Amino acid sequence: MRTFPLPHTGTDVSSIVLGFMRIADLDDDRIRRLVDTALDVGVTVFDHADIYGGAPHTCEKRFGDAVTLTPSQRERISIQSKVGIREGWFDFSKDHIVTTVESSLKALGIEHLDTLLLHRPDALVEPDEVAAAFDELHASGKVVGFGVSNHTPGQIELLKTAVTQTILFDQVQLSIVHSPLIAAGLTANMGTENQSIDRDNGLLDYTRARGITLQAWSPLQSGTASGVFVGDRKNYPELNDALDEIAEVHGSTPSAIATAWITRHPANIQVVLGTTNPDRVIEAARGSDIRLTRPEWYRLFRTAGHALP
Ligand SMILES: NC(=O)c1ccc[n+]([C@@H]2O[C@H](COP(=O)([O-])OP(=O)(O)OC[C@H]3O[C@@H](n4cnc5c(N)ncnc54)[C@H](OP(=O)(O)O)[C@@H]3O)[C@@H](O)[C@H]2O)c1
Repeated sequence: MRTFPLPHTGTDVSSIVLGFMRIADLDDDRIRRLVDTALDVGVTVFDHADIYGGAPHTCEKRFGDAVTLTPSQRERISIQSKVGIREGWFDFSKDHIVTTVESSLKALGIEHLDTLLLHRPDALVEPDEVAAAFDELHASGKVVGFGVSNHTPGQIELLKTAVTQTILFDQVQLSIVHSPLIAAGLTANMGTENQSIDRDNGLLDYTRARGITLQAWSPLQSGTASGVFVGDRKNYPELNDALDEIAEVHGSTPSAIATAWITRHPANIQVVLGTTNPDRVIEAARGSDIRLTRPEWYRLFRTAGHALP
């Protein structure tokens, strides 16, 4: 498993994060097998959110009911959750942030969150309220570290007018196929390319320059509802040829190469896997150790449909 020192903390973290958005229907044994495998291969971050699984805290509770970490496992694992999305609106009010964290801790069966992320930008955000919520949660020992998800540089800067806790993470959608984060910069200022439209206001360079670690959600999905691109020869024939051939060169698998495409980026982007299959966790962990060459990395980028001037 590839690891790197997390900026601002002095702690080493794994490049692979295990996400628990899809565990609502798994029985306890399957959840435990998934968690045990992740621990065995060196995953150090587990990703949750209050909203995963439908009714609030469903997946967090499934995890809490199924898994008891030993004290040494708990020390090694960073448990992360998110807050801010409600049914039909977003809510960064102090009361919602604090009470949701308390419910998340209860559902997960743990004493503290290692990281809390603000899930999606709230148009009605009051930075002072967020700051007060973060400070209270930190002072009470309920949350150690903080971050955001799906935020632009400007939204982070706005939060920082009041928030003094360090923003450690921004979790955003990124895969070889869904990669405006990376693609826009490669065709900057080219009026003929839709790809040059900057959809996140330069988030990649902003976070890199400030030591904010990006976490890539849906790393194997082509979009939000269009499915997995690995093995989808109908829509991505050239990309799948490239994945197969590069996998053979490295004695690996196409899914592992899709993981390696993200971990090869020098920004130390973490890959938030959503699999419920322990074998795929093992594959991704091995993939994170593969260092793709520049020609391989760019071939995957091009065959996914992106332009290179
Ligand atoms: N911050 C946000 O706004 C946000 C949004 C969405 C998700 N997330 C986080 O990101 C995590 C990952 O998201 P995701 O689940 O969409 O990521 P993903 O890892 O891209 O997708 C996982 C899904 O793809 C399937 N899959 C994986 N590899 C496959 C393959 N080679 N062939 C066929 N199917 C394959 C998995 O099935 P199997 O289970 O059978 O392997 C699972 O259903 C979530 O758990 C959550 O923690 C965050």
